[in-house]
Amino acid sequence: MTDPQDSAVASPEDGATTNGNGAARPSHYERIGGAESVKAAVRLFYDRVLADPELAGYFTSVNMEEQRRHLALMLTVVLGGPNTYAGRGLAEAHQPLNIPDEHYAKVGGHLIDTLTALGVPDDILDDVRATLGAVRDQVVSSGTAAGV
Ligand code: HEM
Repeated sequence: MTDPQDSAVASPEDGATTNGNGAARPSHYERIGGAESVKAAVRLFYDRVLADPELAGYFTSVNMEEQRRHLALMLTVVLGGPNTYAGRGLAEAHQPLNIPDEHYAKVGGHLIDTLTALGVPDDILDDVRATLGAVRDQVVSSGTAAGV
């Protein structure tokens, strides 16, 4: 969990940053409405994932409340909010699940669709897409072909 190679929590934005005039520039996290908006996004996101027959099987034996809490914290950090995530590293949590590329792409698509439906602005969506690309290798199984 402390291995920097095994974590998605290194955020370029640590809360609000400042512009050239020294005035505060709000983080993505603040711009979308903070903790309540992130929680709403996580709820909608999981509803979509669980309604997807190709993905629902991954979550049958997982406590969904814990999952929502973890993903809310992770999204918070990815969006530049306060970093309070203390769970397992992404690789440690996902490599045993043998997730193929196509399933990773589907989950990422559901996340982008959810944020789009909530009216999140394009520049934030671009950053979320970049983060999804950056952490892909930690989540997608390195040792298997497509199929679980
Ligand atoms: C950027 C992409 C993803 C992020 C940020 C993410 C985030 C997380 C986090 C924070 C946890 C909890 C880790 C812990 O226990 O401390 C977790 C667990 C889990 N994730 Fe993901 N995840 C991603 C992609 C995926 C994908 C693509 C799938 C399945 C297709 C998936 C399935 C799961 C499952 C089943 C668990 C529970 C594992 C367990 O409890 O043993 N995740 N994820």
